[in-house]
Amino acid sequence: MRLMLAKDDVEERELRSIRIGDLWVLLTRVEGTLFALDDQCNHAGCLLSGGWLEGSEVVCPCHGRRYDVRSGRNTTVPRLGGDQERYPLDLVGGEVLVELPERPRR
Ligand code: FES
Repeated sequence: MRLMLAKDDVEERELRSIRIGDLWVLLTRVEGTLFALDDQCNHAGCLLSGGWLEGSEVVCPCHGRRYDVRSGRNTTVPRLGGDQERYPLDLVGGEVLVELPERPRR
C-alpha cells in the first residue's frame, strides 16, 4: 500500500494524521526532513498526532511515552523496547511516496 503527497504538504513540526483503511499514519517534518510513523501508539492505541513534539521526539498525549520520529525508537524506557513502526519514504518526481504495510499490525 502506498501514499503519495506533495513534498511540501507537511509543515515543519506539524503532526498530521492521515487515515488509510484501518491504518493511521503520522506525518511530521523535523529540521526539514519528513518522517512517517504508525500514528497509533503501541502502548494503548492513542493517536500520537494528538500529542506534541519535543526536539525530534513525539510525546503521546495519553501516558507520555516518547518516540524518536527519526527511528521510531521508544525513548521513554528504551530497554523495554516497544518501538513505534516507522514507514520508509521516497522522493519520486517531486512527490513523496510512503510505503505502508499491506495489513496493519492490529
Ligand atoms: S497510549 Fe501512548 S503512552 Fe499510553
